Amino acid sequence: MDRYLALEMVRVTEAAAINCARLMGRGDGKAADQAAVDAMRKALNQMDFDGTVVIGEGERDEAPMLYIGEKVGSGQGLQVDIALDPLEGTNLCATGAPNALAVIAIAERGNFLHAPDTYMEKIAVGPEAKGCIDIHRSPTQNLEELAKAKKCSVEDLTAIILERPRHENLIQEVRESGARIKLIADGDVSAAIATCEPRTGVDILFGIGGAPEGVLAAAALKSLGGDMQGRLKPRNEEEISRAKKMGIEDINQVFKLEDLAKGDVMFAATGVTNGDFLNGVRYYGGGAYTHSVVMRSLSGTVRYVEARHNFKRKPFFHGDE
Ligand code: FBP
Repeated sequence: MDRYLALEMVRVTEAAAINCARLMGRGDGKAADQAAVDAMRKALNQMDFDGTVVIGEGERDEAPMLYIGEKVGSGQGLQVDIALDPLEGTNLCATGAPNALAVIAIAERGNFLHAPDTYMEKIAVGPEAKGCIDIHRSPTQNLEELAKAKKCSVEDLTAIILERPRHENLIQEVRESGARIKLIADGDVSAAIATCEPRTGVDILFGIGGAPEGVLAAAALKSLGGDMQGRLKPRNEEEISRAKKMGIEDINQVFKLEDLAKGDVMFAATGVTNGDFLNGVRYYGGGAYTHSVVMRSLSGTVRYVEARHNFKRKPFFHGDE
């Protein structure tokens, strides 16, 4: 894939973040999500490629924009598959809580798992623990292996877990193991990335979150040198048949990093609200500052991009192109 695409991807996540961050704290997640979708779609359609959304806002009949199967881009040039979440952490933006992101990942055609909109059990770690995790093992066993890999004790480790009733037993077990826990309200893409960024103090992600978010996280972890495994957790027969229709024959299959995101993958995210590794959008009279990260698995280069946008010269961000 052309590496120049990587910087173009940042424009796309910047546009989504700038448009939805205006609605931070308004308590209206739906409106914030729509603002992110509108801007991301517009920016994507200015890119010079033949793109197909494979992880998007939902099935065609449920999502009018950026639905699974929607064609984006100029239609010319490289054929790519796109995984996106214009606003990852809708409620985080609606309440002004940390770690809402605008996210996109690109791979050559056929290289992302076509994950249905169901749940996925996930485990993710940073580079020092690559190869040490196994979703078949208990959280305690995974923590012990992680401690060995990091040459520390389990008590020194911090697990990040979505605070949900379904995680009651998981949280109890991790507490009993002695590890520390960071409970989060939303946003397990950011949480998975945090395991690869030492300054976050997060060592491992456990728990069940969205399957599409699992693919996005995998795209980032490939570039960051981390590791991840996922297993679908459909809630009903309809979700099982949806997964099968998308080509997943064994519903209990454990997906490794390379199964979730194959080959050369690029990933970009822009902070919507302040977070563990990205600042949120800050507006000033006539413009905004954004903070983004863009990475490529082939080279492993991870770039942080701080940008100052001038709305007077670039009316796109007013939404009145
Ligand atoms: P949205 O931005 O789509 O609301 O997703 C937020 C999120 O917290 C994800 O990060 C996570 O994978 C998923 O929701 C968990 O789902 P649920 O809120 O149903 O437990």
